[in-house]
Amino acid sequence: MLHRLLKLKQVLCLLALLLSGHVILAIPPEQLEFFETKIRPVLAENCYECHNSVNKKKAKLALDYKDALLAGSENGDVIVPGKPEERVLIWAIRHEDEDLEMPPKADKLSDAVITALD
Ligand code: HEC
Repeated sequence: MLHRLLKLKQVLCLLALLLSGHVILAIPPEQLEFFETKIRPVLAENCYECHNSVNKKKAKLALDYKDALLAGSENGDVIVPGKPEERVLIWAIRHEDEDLEMPPKADKLSDAVITALD
């Protein structure tokens, strides 16, 4: 339990760091590695097909680079650094909202991945 909470804090902190941009150089290498090895490949595999900045942006959302993620979709922010409760992105991949399940018409991402993003 404690371990899980610590991990949650770490990941949120990491996302906040990544998204804020200003402190990008302050990211410890092991956190950067966590993002690169655990998170980015998952988004690449499951989301970029429909949300990329090159040729397809469903809901005007691109997920392939930091500024795009931060810029959000046609409806606004999908992720808010430091405000976990406002993460549309997380609801979508958890299939919490029946009207917004990402990736659509596919199995939910594995729990391990969701936990890692959480
Ligand atoms: C097959 C195409 C497709 C894939 C793959 C896909 N999406 Fe989407 N996404 C859409 C479409 C289309 C919408 C617009 C809303 C709708 O029609 O459901 C959308 C909307 C969203 C939104 C809501 C944007 C908003 O604010 O309304 C989020 C967040 C999102 N996608 C995240 C993801 C994530 C994260 C993944 C990967 C796990 C993913 N999507 C994979 C097609 C896709």
